Amino acid sequence: MAVGIFDSGLGGLTVHQAVQARLPDLDLVYLADSAHAPYGVRTSDDIYNLTVAATQRLFDAGCDLVILACNTASAAALRRMQESWVPTDKRVLGVFVPLIEALTERQWGDNSPPREVEVKHVALFATPATVASRAFQRELAFRAIGVDVEAQACGGVVDAIEDGDFILAEAMVRSHVDALRRKMPDPQAAILGCTHYPLMQDTFQDALGAGVKVFSQADLVAESLADYLTRHPDKMGRGAPAFLTTGDPARVSSRATQFLRRPISFSAA
Ligand code: DGL
Repeated sequence: MAVGIFDSGLGGLTVHQAVQARLPDLDLVYLADSAHAPYGVRTSDDIYNLTVAATQRLFDAGCDLVILACNTASAAALRRMQESWVPTDKRVLGVFVPLIEALTERQWGDNSPPREVEVKHVALFATPATVASRAFQRELAFRAIGVDVEAQACGGVVDAIEDGDFILAEAMVRSHVDALRRKMPDPQAAILGCTHYPLMQDTFQDALGAGVKVFSQADLVAESLADYLTRHPDKMGRGAPAFLTTGDPARVSSRATQFLRRPISFSAA
């Protein structure tokens, strides 16, 4: 039984890499639904059905705990899955909450009423589906008051990254940061609300300027998972690690190797 990590494509590898560094003895099965990426332009029903199918594939591979390393799936499908689909002996966790806890300076499980926090103006960069779901604003409102969030839907960035076209991805990131700045000239913090975006983190930071604190998820999720597993050691997976894709394994392996700068070999899911 290993822990499953799911993303629509390669962005979740940023989370996989951080989890592996933080928990080197944990075995992980990664699943990229490359045949259906990007999710960010799909309807919520579509995202729900695809995420359920992918999570079931990871359960079938022996995972009892699956991390949705995809904000779009976490925003559009997680709550509905937890309420009506996840079997009682399995767990599915999303990547939103660790990020919001870091932004609001909270510890895991702190359910006290919302309070004022230091950052007041926050820029959120995410896929169109994540922005449309308003899930980030909803989760934030449970924990903080008086925070002004301006969301920028970054259409096209995931496609460019999945195609390995980093010149196009960089141009798009800069244009999305410009668009955000027209709505919110001086954000104090920026949230990279898509697991693909850490691959463009330097460009986001450069376009935003050194004065803007950029939060990205990989390390925060790894830390939250480590904390979760000390409280739920039965979910600490050991099994056959694997990288699976619903797309073309040769193409996906070559892109993944390019992203992470180490050989990664995907097999057909
Ligand atoms: N990495 C996914 C996320 O965090 C990308 C979604 C997509 O496929 O558009 O939202």
